[in-house]
Amino acid sequence: MDQHQEPLVKASGIVKKFGGFTALNQVDLVIHPGERLGLIGPNGSGKSTLVNCISGMLKIDGGAVYLQGKDISQLAPHARVHAGIARSFQIPKPFKSMTVIENIKVVINFSGTMRAEITEQRSHDEQALKIIQSVGLMNKADAISSSLTQVELRKLELARAMSANPQLLIADEALAGLSGAEVDEILELIMGMKEKGISVLMIEHIMSAVMQFSERLMVLVAGTKVADGDPQEVISNPEVIKAYLGE
Ligand SMILES: Nc1ncnc2c1ncn2[C@@H]1O[C@H](COP(=O)(O)OP(=O)(O)O)[C@@H](O)[C@H]1O
Ligand SMILES: [Mg+2]
Repeated sequence: MDQHQEPLVKASGIVKKFGGFTALNQVDLVIHPGERLGLIGPNGSGKSTLVNCISGMLKIDGGAVYLQGKDISQLAPHARVHAGIARSFQIPKPFKSMTVIENIKVVINFSGTMRAEITEQRSHDEQALKIIQSVGLMNKADAISSSLTQVELRKLELARAMSANPQLLIADEALAGLSGAEVDEILELIMGMKEKGISVLMIEHIMSAVMQFSERLMVLVAGTKVADGDPQEVISNPEVIKAYLGE
């Protein structure tokens, strides 16, 4: 990883409070272009809150979020999607009454990635099918989303995120509740984002998946960053071990 290139995303001194409770206390985070960053920490340590601050779902109470050097702290979530940040998974909410392809086209239309070039409906169909194929859902393209299995829904989630043409994919517990074989399948799709030049920030509890995925690993404990670096070094850090044993 070239540490001298401009980060894709940089969050500095992020503070987030819920009433009198400080959920994030001056957290710094950097993601480089194409990088796979793992984010771990005990339940309630602020992982989802941090990614919600990056995606704009939550307003920050201190610090700033930059995308390619531009301060996006005040941008609404949809504007951050347009700017290239796609958050996925913890709240999977495809439109259940729509088919898989319709669900993808909603996002393509919304994100307007093709607007400047081609606006024909046919090209949207082609783009949607290409994405559906890339996640292995071709045989379900015309299926109603409510009929999908758990693992198929995760693939649809991933496809929806891809449809926004992101630079950063945030995967918050994408593997939760899946069987071993399904975990491998979804993990492989997420790992494959790198070939498309997409950075991925992954929050995950399954440590084997985290270690397989992460080029760098960051740890939050009670709203504070306690480690950030080489995954092997990070998981042998006494402070990290203590946080997990104390859970
Ligand atoms: N909208 C909210 N209102 C009040 N407290 C919240 C809210 N969201 C999260 N919290 C609290 O902030 C802390 C961090 O939560 P969260 O970021 O979801 O943790 P994690 O994703 O690491 O499990 C928890 O104590 C949680 O109860
Ligand atoms: Mg969470």
